[in-house]
Amino acid sequence: MAPRTLQDLFVHSLSDVYSAEKQLTRALPKLARASANSDLKAAFETHLEETQGQIERIDQVVELCGIKLKRIKCVAIEGLVEEGQEQIDDFDQGPIRDAALIAAAQKVEHYEIATYGTLATVAKQLGHEEAMKLLLETLEEEKSTDEKLTQLAKQQVAQEVRASVES
Ligand SMILES: [Fe+2]
Ligand SMILES: [Fe+2]
Repeated sequence: MAPRTLQDLFVHSLSDVYSAEKQLTRALPKLARASANSDLKAAFETHLEETQGQIERIDQVVELCGIKLKRIKCVAIEGLVEEGQEQIDDFDQGPIRDAALIAAAQKVEHYEIATYGTLATVAKQLGHEEAMKLLLETLEEEKSTDEKLTQLAKQQVAQEVRASVES
């Protein structure tokens, strides 16, 4: 039957983000390996660990809400991951590629921030308070990752890009 209720929307969005997080557990190690800046590398590695925890939180939400996830593929993240791969192919390892990787990763974080924000709101509307709290925890991790990437872009990587242009 075609999805039509708020509950259907919740299950669909949660299934979608589950697929997104799974894809990201495969993409983040590649981003870490592709980075030159050691802080950026570390940021990707830390976020990989967080992402594994986020998948566990989704499992908890599924338990708490007594729902079953659908087998769907998040095509948005598939596309964003593909763009990240293109940056790796197009730029040699170094500060310019790092800047490109940060931009690609921030697109992913913004997608996740939008998704978890909606999911938390829908969980609340459905009366799933505990699930909402878990989704908000993940939302905060995505936001702080985004901020960390902004800081890295503004500080180290920007300096390195300048240095590479001047030399
Ligand atoms: Fe995530
Ligand atoms: Fe993320």
